[in-house]
Amino acid sequence: MRPRTDHRAAGSLEIRPVTGLPEFTTGSDVAAEILSAAPWLASGDVLVVTSKIISKAEGRMVGAPTDPDERDALRRRLVEAESVRVLARKNRTLITENRLGLVQAAAGIDGSNVRSDQLALLPENPDRSAAELRRGIAEAAGLDVAVIITDTMGRAWRNGQTDVAIGAAGIGVTHPYDGGTDDYGNPLVVTDIAIADELAAAGDLVKGKLAAVPVAVVRGLTPVDNGTTAADLIRPAEEDLFRLGTEEAIAQGRREAIRTRRSVRSFADRPVDPDDLRAALGDALTAPAPHHTHPVRFAWVRSADRRRELLDAMTEQWQADLESDSKTAESIVKRLRRGRILYDAPELVIPFLVPDGVHEYPDERRNAAEHTMFTVAAGGAVAGLLVALSVREIGSCWVGSTIFAAPTVRRVLELDETWEPLGAVAVGYPLEPAPLREAAPIRDWVIEL
Ligand SMILES: Cc1cc2nc3c(=O)[nH]c(=O)nc-3n(C[C@H](O)[C@H](O)[C@H](O)COP(=O)(O)O)c2cc1C
Repeated sequence: MRPRTDHRAAGSLEIRPVTGLPEFTTGSDVAAEILSAAPWLASGDVLVVTSKIISKAEGRMVGAPTDPDERDALRRRLVEAESVRVLARKNRTLITENRLGLVQAAAGIDGSNVRSDQLALLPENPDRSAAELRRGIAEAAGLDVAVIITDTMGRAWRNGQTDVAIGAAGIGVTHPYDGGTDDYGNPLVVTDIAIADELAAAGDLVKGKLAAVPVAVVRGLTPVDNGTTAADLIRPAEEDLFRLGTEEAIAQGRREAIRTRRSVRSFADRPVDPDDLRAALGDALTAPAPHHTHPVRFAWVRSADRRRELLDAMTEQWQADLESDSKTAESIVKRLRRGRILYDAPELVIPFLVPDGVHEYPDERRNAAEHTMFTVAAGGAVAGLLVALSVREIGSCWVGSTIFAAPTVRRVLELDETWEPLGAVAVGYPLEPAPLREAAPIRDWVIEL
């Protein structure tokens, strides 16, 4: 447990710019330059330092072409090299995570406030840089200051940018209020104020981007050093509700879409959103089909009377089939009970193979092959429907029974005799949530030739 950091200012704060600093270059002694420009610096002050001057002093500037296109190409290569993952991309903006876990545009690579033939990378380890600057000031002047190294970032969900702490030393970076109560007696459970970020933003109020004031001093806070650093402000991905960038989340959702499906046989007693079902049917109808045909139709049986009439007629037919198989009465009852799902599901969709656009051949071999081709295409559309439903969190079970009672189905639904039912799809919200399933072991069923 880290010690508490009760360094919130009780009274007023002073935020002072450090003016008169020189241009920094590789090897500049940042501590000495600050002390020389701010001889008034005192123990207990918080130095708020723009990361750009640290980058310059640490030789993190990269020579860049002045031609705008070439400069942009180099910038993109550097962003890629500095990033461990891309979270979002829109037009020319790339939001990435860098090695340190900082999530920001362009991995913090910047062409502002640098020479036109250079680009600035962030300091390699801003927490280390902050600690070194703090130590440098202690050694040169005997002062105990806290140091915050800042960078400017946009924030998800918010317009505008603000400075945040990417490096910190000598100051607890957050101030937790957990366990306390507010003035009204409400327990403060999760409030954890990011003091270092607040100081970074406060410093920017006097630094400004154009006035060549890269350092500010916040006085009046009396920082408490609890050993935390800016790295502690980075929320571990596994704890972050928004751990995936938009791009990653979309890619993962696409990858997992098929594995969200499973046969659902128990449905919640809740109507299915008809717009969602319609949308899923629309998705399913984009399935591939031979020579620009539309070999599938979906009959969405919405009328309860129609459904009962259809299922009763199918049950009668099934019972007659089972009796002709000489099954026992007990086994017939058991089997017929399995058909209940089509009575009980909130919605029922019956897919049909239709020979719309089917080619006719003079021989039976090719006519049979054409029929198979249409059947597999229609089956593909049905499989697509099940996935289109499951990605909308709607469960389904594809059962084969209508295939065995085709004339009955056509008669009750008054459909053309060329329409072949391809089973029935019971649709509804699953009674129980189910985890994402694993991919199948391809070793057993894929033959690589
Ligand atoms: C053409 C077809 C007919 C099916 N018929 C039935 C059925 O009559 N009753 C049933 O409970 N499930 C039926 N199923 C679902 C399978 O039992 C199910 O897909 C299989 O057990 C694998 O489980 P999963 O869908 O959760 O991956 C059928 C599936 C297909 C593709």
